[in-house]
Amino acid sequence: MKTEPLGPPDPLAGRRILVGISGSIAAVKLPLVVSALAKRGAEVRCVLTPSAAQLVSPVALASLSRQRSYLDADQWSHTAARPLHVELAEWAELVLLAPLSATSLGRWVHGLGDSLLASILLATEAPVLAAAAMNTAMWSSPGVLANWQRLQGFERVLPLGPAEGLLACDRQGTGRMAEPDLLLLALESLALWGWRRDWQGRRLLVTAGPTREWMDPARCITNPSTGRMGVALAQAARLRGAAVQLLHGPLQVDPAWLEGLSCQRIDTGAELQQQLRLHQPAADAIAMAAAVADHRPLAPQAHKQGKQALTAQLAEGWEAVPDLLQELVQRRPPGQPILGFAAHSGDVLPQAQAKFARKGCDLLFANPIDQPGSGFGAAANQGWLLGPGPAVETVPTQGKLAVAHQLLTALGALLSSGQG
Ligand code: CTP
Repeated sequence: MKTEPLGPPDPLAGRRILVGISGSIAAVKLPLVVSALAKRGAEVRCVLTPSAAQLVSPVALASLSRQRSYLDADQWSHTAARPLHVELAEWAELVLLAPLSATSLGRWVHGLGDSLLASILLATEAPVLAAAAMNTAMWSSPGVLANWQRLQGFERVLPLGPAEGLLACDRQGTGRMAEPDLLLLALESLALWGWRRDWQGRRLLVTAGPTREWMDPARCITNPSTGRMGVALAQAARLRGAAVQLLHGPLQVDPAWLEGLSCQRIDTGAELQQQLRLHQPAADAIAMAAAVADHRPLAPQAHKQGKQALTAQLAEGWEAVPDLLQELVQRRPPGQPILGFAAHSGDVLPQAQAKFARKGCDLLFANPIDQPGSGFGAAANQGWLLGPGPAVETVPTQGKLAVAHQLLTALGALLSSGQG
């Protein structure tokens, strides 16, 4: 019997997660999040403010979490020796506060504990992922902005500002809660790395996904990269406080994972080269995760060719796509560390060591693409991180977000020490 390899453990499995829901229409998305968390093996308990309970059913949340839901009235009917808000606050290993309404934000940053959720937030010592959601005008009102600003200074809090989009009040603007898939990714990041924003004030340029070289409008040469590793790296850096510019080819990742990043779509190696030239000067560090297609036809055709013409083109006219990573290294200003990637089959390390010497980047993450469960398109990755020192850092098999955090820590250390 053929058995699938066991994947790395899910960082959210077995964790005690308290989901605090306050009164914004985005509350209707929370059952999806709660259901996903329960399916991933997390222990989930939901606490709703009175207005949240008007918008989303505590009964549905109880079914999806396999736990009863908690409301304000429970605080006063609770007869156990310890107060309910303290019990729940201490039970939680992680708190997801979504949506965070203007009122709940105000209560929290001013230290008010006049509801079950508000007093849990004051009492808990667990890290909190707080995802704001409200009408655009409310979000840009001076009181709310000042409160949000104040929250940035809170220890143990990972604040996730609202995104732009069409709001339930028919306004187009900022106020939409982060999508459920981004909440799950950010929660995973909180479990793996915590809330520390060590990349705050730093600008990271990331490339991700494949490039494509077109023979004619119907055929191209490319590779199976999905962009998952590069996007995980970009989002992890953003959650650690970086301003991220992402240059990406065609991606196969959840679009929610792109929220909060400055994205520029590219297709060919030439387009990537042009965008890299544009964005390199402003970057403090660069991660070159794109899988650049190596060759392009000398004479791409504007119209679809017949098979015979295509065969002739395949036989004759190809040129190498310039090595963009090498160009970055040659052009870089002092103190701009660069992380490269190397995907190999077979004996990875010797091939990667030769590539590292050839490319001249500061770090090179070498990963196998012929191991089941890791590499192109997989949820997990593994490999070795080559750096300036003689020691090679092993990157064990883990989810791509965990790998991303390990790589960012190494890149951030080089940036802090002025290397690159
Ligand atoms: N890369 C690049 N420009 C290219 C090819 C690759 O900038 N024309 C970058 C990739 O983004 C990656 C690193 O170089 O960071 C290594 O890419 P990889 O495809 O593993 O290596 P190649 O340089 O293409 O060498 P080979 O195919 O011979 O292994």
